[in-house]
Amino acid sequence: MKRSSVLAMETAADLTTPAFVFDLDLLDDSAGRARQVTQGAGCRLLYSVKACAHRAVLRRILPVVEGFSCSSPFEVRWAREIAPSTHSVHCTAPGLRPSDIYELVTICDYLSFNSLGQHRLAEHHEAPQAQYGLRVNPEYSLVSDDRYDPCCKHSKLGILPDELEASFSPGRKLPDRVTGLHIHSNCDSSDFGQLRETVRRLDRRLGHVLDQVAWINLGGGYLFDDSEAIDRLRECMEILGKGRQVEVFIEPGAGIVNDCGHMVSTVVDLLVRDGRSIAILDTTVNHLPEVFEFELMTEVIDAIQGEGHEYLLAGSSCLAGDLFGGYTFAKPLRIGQRILFAQVGAYSLVKAHMFNGICLPRVYTYCAESGLTLECQTDYDDYVRQLWDRQ
Ligand SMILES: Cc1ncc(COP(=O)(O)O)c(C=O)c1O
Repeated sequence: MKRSSVLAMETAADLTTPAFVFDLDLLDDSAGRARQVTQGAGCRLLYSVKACAHRAVLRRILPVVEGFSCSSPFEVRWAREIAPSTHSVHCTAPGLRPSDIYELVTICDYLSFNSLGQHRLAEHHEAPQAQYGLRVNPEYSLVSDDRYDPCCKHSKLGILPDELEASFSPGRKLPDRVTGLHIHSNCDSSDFGQLRETVRRLDRRLGHVLDQVAWINLGGGYLFDDSEAIDRLRECMEILGKGRQVEVFIEPGAGIVNDCGHMVSTVVDLLVRDGRSIAILDTTVNHLPEVFEFELMTEVIDAIQGEGHEYLLAGSSCLAGDLFGGYTFAKPLRIGQRILFAQVGAYSLVKAHMFNGICLPRVYTYCAESGLTLECQTDYDDYVRQLWDRQ
């Protein structure tokens, strides 16, 4: 059993469920691995706040990363609140309003525009703090599901190379004040060979643009669990650095935070329907929305492969499709038993909602030194507030 599982099982009994538990020691492990790879390759590591923005997580990551990357004015403000001045704050997002752009140019260190039109809104700002970048779509598709694929057909993400070149001034120069480029084209990939190929194509297609920039942000979408990651990332750096002085950033989210998050729930009812056993939990897919959105099967600790007692794990909302999927256990489940979902640190807490009026999970952190700490719990007042009722 993984170290994470042991810790979570030991502590699960002491929790009020449903609960997210962030294992900070495991977070150190994942962030340390990312740091080792990026530092070894000579690349700057940022953390993408959108994956999990909890204060305790961001604070713990601070010593390992050089900054935070964000996708909205609120995320930028939050990152600024947490990050000391030694850390940089980066942002890219499609569809920013003029007022957002006005705010962002004054509080970000790096702001990458998703289109030339969005860049024009900032071009004449008198005193931007941010270095401007352009998000380029590398037109190299790596993800089979279009919903996750920034390079899918008709993608709204990034400026197309042809479009960028057509906008150039006669000297084939980038617009004034643009000092960097941003690309992001993958999702949950362990294969940095895919990033190398993306960079290779970018260099072939837009080498003369790369010659003009001081920095490039390679986006996120990569995990750091492959032993070849460091060599492949080094090769990316060699391609980008050939005859150039360019600072390279990478901004993973899930690759840093996913492994450390657990969802702990309790079986509240057992049913048999059409010959199938169903265990209803005190959580719901509202708490792990990607299980529903993307039909993900999440690892359940103590579930086994092969012969045993099979259950359909179901959530407690009125939605018929509020289901986690079929899992097999060595012994029959009983009411009151804990069910632990592992590796749900990314895109869960930030997307969780209160549909059906079901309370959000408590948030705990865990580390060997301090044990279990209750960080936050929501209550009826939070429910009323999120109904846009402030009376
Ligand atoms: C621009 C950008 N950077 C970074 C990320 C983080 O990706 P991940 O959490 O998959 O590493 C995303 C995710 O959507 C993104 O859109």
